Amino acid sequence: MSSDELRTILEQTWSGLAKAVDQVNHPWRFPALGTQGLDGPDVRTMVLRSADAVARQLTAQTDIRSTKVSGFRKDPRVAWHFFDPQTRVQVRAHGRVTVHHDNEVTRATWTAVQEANKRNYAVPPAPGSPIDDPSLGQAPASDKAAASANFAVLSSGITFIDWLQLGDEWHRRAQFTWTGGDWRCAWVAP
Ligand SMILES: Cc1cc2nc3c(=O)[nH]c(=O)nc-3n(C[C@H](O)[C@H](O)[C@H](O)COP(=O)(O)O)c2cc1C
Repeated sequence: MSSDELRTILEQTWSGLAKAVDQVNHPWRFPALGTQGLDGPDVRTMVLRSADAVARQLTAQTDIRSTKVSGFRKDPRVAWHFFDPQTRVQVRAHGRVTVHHDNEVTRATWTAVQEANKRNYAVPPAPGSPIDDPSLGQAPASDKAAASANFAVLSSGITFIDWLQLGDEWHRRAQFTWTGGDWRCAWVAP
């Protein structure tokens, strides 16, 4: 019974992540992505762009010039953090990032990026560059070639999930570890 419950939690976690991709108000749509940056730990809000339970993949999109990408070259390990204040469920998912840039993945994904979002990638100064005025950090009216050249997809293969639910009377916590062929599921003390 306990094992079935763990499997259900794992399935619900992945289906919740998939829902968050499509539902703009879903609490898991804007996770925090933790990384080992060039100068130590770093974390930032991202938009979750896809969640694939079978491939065990979570993806996000970013500017290839951003600092986080330099960090991935040093250490591709990431930790995603999701929290739903309604259910009081926290999910942490660990994995390794593959940076896609100027390849089939980015070309296929770029066509589906909303026009308004495409502009963000055309800003001439790289993300994090000093500027004299915020107006200098805005995209020019249209420079689609520059925008697509800066577009990157971050694909993270997930190998570990820590699930925690704070209940009124008791708390439950479970861990799921990818063993290469299946998930090992276990309850742990919260
Ligand atoms: C609501 C929200 C959503 C965001 N989504 C993304 C995103 O999908 N991709 C991204 O690169 N940055 C996104 N950002 C900006 C990042 O949080 C971060 O400031 C930026 O990527 C620079 O991070 P870095 O210096 O670690 O590379 C978002 C910020 C907010 C507030």
